[in-house]
Amino acid sequence: WRRSLYPKGPQKWRQVILFILCVCMCQSGAETLRYSLPEEMERDSFVANIAKDLGVPLSQLAARKARVVSEGNEQLFRLNQNTGVLTAKESLDREEICPQSDTCTLVFKIFFENPLQLIRGEVEVRDINDNSPVFPEKEMVLKILETASPGSRFPLESAQDKDMGINGLQNYSLGPNPHFSLSQGTGKNGVKYVELVLQRQLDREEQGELSLLLTATDGGSPPRSGTAQVRIVVVDANDNVPVFERETYEVRLAENSPLEQLVVRVAAADPDEGSNGEVNYAFAQASERSRQLFQLNQTTGEIRVAGKLDFEEAKSHTMVVKATDGGGLSAHCKVQVEVLDVNDNAPEIALTSLSASIPEDAPPRTVVALFSVRDRDSGDNGRTECSIDGDLPFSLTPTFDNYYELRTNAALDRERTAEYNITITATDWGRKRLSSQESIFVQISDVNDNPPEFTQEIYTMSVTENNSPMLRIGSMKATDADAGINARVNYALVRQEGKEQPEVSVNAENGDVYILRPLDYEKVEEYNVTLRARDEGSPALSTSKTLLVRLLDVNDNAPTFTQAIYTMVMSENDCCSPTPCSSFGSR
Ligand SMILES: *[C@@H]1O[C@H](CO)[C@@H](O)[C@H](O)[C@H]1NC(C)=O
Ligand SMILES: *[C@@H]1O[C@H](CO)[C@@H](O)[C@H](O)[C@H]1NC(C)=O
Ligand SMILES: *[C@@H]1O[C@H](CO)[C@@H](O)[C@H](O)[C@H]1NC(C)=O
Ligand SMILES: *[C@@H]1O[C@H](CO)[C@@H](O)[C@H](O)[C@H]1NC(C)=O
Repeated sequence: WRRSLYPKGPQKWRQVILFILCVCMCQSGAETLRYSLPEEMERDSFVANIAKDLGVPLSQLAARKARVVSEGNEQLFRLNQNTGVLTAKESLDREEICPQSDTCTLVFKIFFENPLQLIRGEVEVRDINDNSPVFPEKEMVLKILETASPGSRFPLESAQDKDMGINGLQNYSLGPNPHFSLSQGTGKNGVKYVELVLQRQLDREEQGELSLLLTATDGGSPPRSGTAQVRIVVVDANDNVPVFERETYEVRLAENSPLEQLVVRVAAADPDEGSNGEVNYAFAQASERSRQLFQLNQTTGEIRVAGKLDFEEAKSHTMVVKATDGGGLSAHCKVQVEVLDVNDNAPEIALTSLSASIPEDAPPRTVVALFSVRDRDSGDNGRTECSIDGDLPFSLTPTFDNYYELRTNAALDRERTAEYNITITATDWGRKRLSSQESIFVQISDVNDNPPEFTQEIYTMSVTENNSPMLRIGSMKATDADAGINARVNYALVRQEGKEQPEVSVNAENGDVYILRPLDYEKVEEYNVTLRARDEGSPALSTSKTLLVRLLDVNDNAPTFTQAIYTMVMSENDCCSPTPCSSFGSR
């Protein structure tokens, strides 16, 4: 029995030929020679000294025609009958001979004749680390969603090492990188697997692609290794919310800004890829009015004027704009538009009260009208002043809160100016001054302040004596500067106390003068009557005028003596005035 000798220490297996003689005490009593030979030995390498191991003298080998027969078709060994040494005919490649199995044992038999003897032998072909781990592909491409959570595992292709046991694949390692670590283990089928384990969240926007060096190492001495590149393509996930450049956009805009004028351009950035990074804009919170006044371009984020801005209507507009990316993530920003006042409003004059007519005797400072002036602009643009055009007997008195009173400031006279068209001009203080005008039409109502006036200084009318009755001898006209009934004149004779009423009458309405009865020049040559013109005002005013009616003599009397004897008798009653009487008397 030979005990096998195993090398101790660092001595290399392949340099030392070892053999194991293992004698099994089988129950049958048959014995098996067991040897071991590292693979890849040169041809004709020594395997064993059979003669020695079997204790057969060398001389017997040839005599008994000892020979070796390998199992299978190929004869791998050769037995030298002279030396008793068993050698391998060829270099043995374990990976070729037993590609699948863990142990690689070649069985041979040694035949002796005379007597016939059969001895079984085994040569274990020992693995040496002659193969490196090899990855099926030099590059592996892995697509990983950037949202993959840490701890996620991604199986990698295993490397293959044809060597066995310790010389086989032992370990994987990964080049230094911040995101992944390796997890490896042995599956139920004994196959080593390797996985990438995500340690730190990926971010496509930070790094879209990573290249890792994966190394597979075997346990040989020295170890051999194989590498592969693992290219990680980080797949975009809509993991970025659009972000506005600013939280609030503040814009100042003149109210007369034209349509289409750019107000502001809001912009939200989204570093995601493709539609995940495409941002659309829309108003999120905006009043109906703001939506009418401003138009938002949903692709560019431009806000333009779309309506007539009016400072007086709204001094500012606040809108919330929402940016949404293709994946539905959104962000908001505020747009604050301050509308700047432009002097675009003329003052407005609003008449509050108006006395359409005032009496001409109204005392100065009588209020004629009350009105207010309003300017919808603000500041100086809305400050107003007010004036009256022309030189009129009126003035403006500011009262309160932009109210003005239009008052008279002099005595009025309807007979001189019966109506005034007063133009009030209100002007604001804007740089380009705007003004507006309003007319107040004031009628001066009549007061009976003018008595009738006769048109002539002196009235003298003549009538030929013996006139026909009701003879119109003329007319006396009086005018009245007043109006209406204040100017309606009535004529009348003024009764003179104690005087005989002359034969004269006057038409009350038109002033025509009539002689009622035929007159006799020889009786009265001249009448002196007083006429009064009187208006219908209240109180009425009147004027009196003297009318002299002269009689013209007609030769209607032949000189006759009415009696032979003249007795001069005169009574007082025959005469109305001394003069005719005396003239009578003188005849
Ligand atoms: C595998 O390799 C890594 C790094 O090279 C090492 O830290 C680890 O101990 C090895 N594991 C084994 C089982 O050899
Ligand atoms: C938005 O702007 C783009 C580019 O200027 C333009 O082509 C498009 O017509 C605009 N859309 C609207 C609704 O104005
Ligand atoms: C008053 O004057 C204004 C302008 O001068 C004119 O438009 C208006 O018709 C006038 N009013 C009257 C009642 O005459
Ligand atoms: C007419 O009578 C008045 C008084 O009654 C007198 O003042 C006036 O002088 C007279 N006129 C004439 C022309 O006689």
